Amino acid sequence: MARKTLIAGNWKMNGLLADGVDLAKGVAAEVKKMGKTQCEFLVCPPFTLLTAVKKALRGAKVALGAQDVHFNAKGAHTGDISPLMLKDAGCQYVIVGHSERRADHKESDELISKKAAAAYEAGLKAVICIGETLEEREAGKTIDVCTRQILGSVPDNADGSNTVIAYEPVWAIGTGKTPTAEDVEEVHAAVRKVLAKKLGKGNANKMRILYGGSVKPGNAKEFLSLPDVDGALIGGASLKVEDFIAIAKNSGQC
Ligand code: PGA
Repeated sequence: MARKTLIAGNWKMNGLLADGVDLAKGVAAEVKKMGKTQCEFLVCPPFTLLTAVKKALRGAKVALGAQDVHFNAKGAHTGDISPLMLKDAGCQYVIVGHSERRADHKESDELISKKAAAAYEAGLKAVICIGETLEEREAGKTIDVCTRQILGSVPDNADGSNTVIAYEPVWAIGTGKTPTAEDVEEVHAAVRKVLAKKLGKGNANKMRILYGGSVKPGNAKEFLSLPDVDGALIGGASLKVEDFIAIAKNSGQC
């Protein structure tokens, strides 16, 4: 089953207008230069940069995504952004359930599932994040935690066209530490099994599962060549055009 490799950048809370536009233009130019590629590209800037980045990406095959969303379409939710607003700003994707949101904003699996379902309603694809903490890894609970997160935060109507899963061990995010390739493949294969149980084998085989956590140009190939790894969710290294593009080029998939 051919799953198109997704190279996704999560800019997190980084970028003012000028540098965000520069970064987007740089990525757009490099992706254009690559010409025909087997990979799909995605950048997820902060809300304030969405419309400017959309403009900067014009003509390049780079999708736009946001980093979070509310589950309501509109209304009295001060400070929140709705799926329709994201769609209106030109987004095709939205990240939900990133471990930083699970930790900083106490987001539950149930809430994340509601957000993903609301994203589908608006015609957005959800990148649903899962992953264990260091304590959970050391206690041998990685697969259990990921299973629980998949069962709780992936809506029942998720499928390969509306959902991407991102496995990001919390302890690997922004730390320069990574699991071994064997560990990553083990978790991805287990996640696909859980997805098959929940959504059927066909959906599970079509659904992309990204690896995230200290992905760099130097380790891109190691992770992206694994059979159940269908791309990367890249934080720090997505803030530099050269690194983001080098990850794609070095992956051997693009
Ligand atoms: P990192 O972040 O690449 O900086 O480790 C990944 C993420 O949190 O999505």
